Amino acid sequence: MVDGAPAAESQDALLEAFAERLGAAREERLAQGVLALVGRLHDLIRDLRPTPDEFSAVLGFLTDVGHNTDARRQEWVLLADVLGVSTLVEDLSQSARGRATPSTIAGPFYRPDAPDLPDGADLCRDGRGQPLDIAGQISDLSGAPIPQAVVEIWHANAQGCYENQQPDLQPEFNLRGRFRADASGRFSCRTIRPGGYMLPKDGPVGILFQRLGLGLERPAHIHFRVAAPGFRTLVTHVFDRDDPAIGRDALFAVKPELLGEFRPVSDHPERFALAVRFFLAPETHP
Ligand SMILES: [Fe+2]
Repeated sequence: MVDGAPAAESQDALLEAFAERLGAAREERLAQGVLALVGRLHDLIRDLRPTPDEFSAVLGFLTDVGHNTDARRQEWVLLADVLGVSTLVEDLSQSARGRATPSTIAGPFYRPDAPDLPDGADLCRDGRGQPLDIAGQISDLSGAPIPQAVVEIWHANAQGCYENQQPDLQPEFNLRGRFRADASGRFSCRTIRPGGYMLPKDGPVGILFQRLGLGLERPAHIHFRVAAPGFRTLVTHVFDRDDPAIGRDALFAVKPELLGEFRPVSDHPERFALAVRFFLAPETHP
C-alpha cells in the first residue's frame, strides 16, 4: 500500500457502488437525499476515524433515542430540535416570507387532538397559576382580517411542565385548546401564565447535552398553530420577553417578532394580559 491511496480508492468505490444501486430508484428526490446523506456519512467517518467501539456507542445512542419515543414522548423530534436542524428547515422554507409571522418548530409536546373550545374559554383545568387573558387577531399580509381561522394553543404550566409530560399530575388536555376566530379574525381565551422549562434531561438527548456542557433551557412561551383555507398554516411561539433565559433558547426559536409582553392588568397585580397578532402568508407565497 502506498500513501494509503488504494484504501481511498476502495472508499470511493463503496460510494460509487451505492450510487449505482440507487440508479434504479423510482423516487428521485428520495434517492437524491439518501445519496447525499450517505456521501456525507462516508466523509464524516473518513474525517473522524471512529473506532469500532465509538461507532457502536453511536448506534447505541440512536437506539436509545428510538426507545425513548412513543405517543407521549418524541425524543427524535427533541434531537432534531436541539441540534438546530428543525429551525434550519423552517427558516429555509420561508426565506421570502415578507410580513408574515415567522414559523417556528412545533416542539416535542404538540398534540393534534386538542379539544374545540368556545371563544373566551379557559384552558386551565386545574386552577393553578397566575391568570392570563389572551386576545388575538389573525390577518393576511395586507393587514385584512382572516375570518374563521382555526387557532390551536398549547403551553406548559407555571412549573414549566406540559400535561403530556405529567399524565398523573395534570388533567388531560390541561392548557390546550382549539378555537375558531370570529368574522373579524379575532379570538380570545383565558389561561395561566406559563413558566420556562428545561428540556428533558433523563433521556439520551438530555444526557448527551449534559456531557457536552450544553444548556437545555427554554424561556417561557406559548405555542400557536393557525390554519385558514388559502393560507399557509402557521406554527409559531410567543415568548415572554422578560424571561431571563430569552437569549439562550435551547431550540433557537426566539425571533424579535415573536416577543410578547405579559402585561399586569391594572388593579389586578396577579392577573396578566397578552395581545398577539399573526400575519398569514397566502398558500401560493414563495
Ligand atoms: Fe414549548
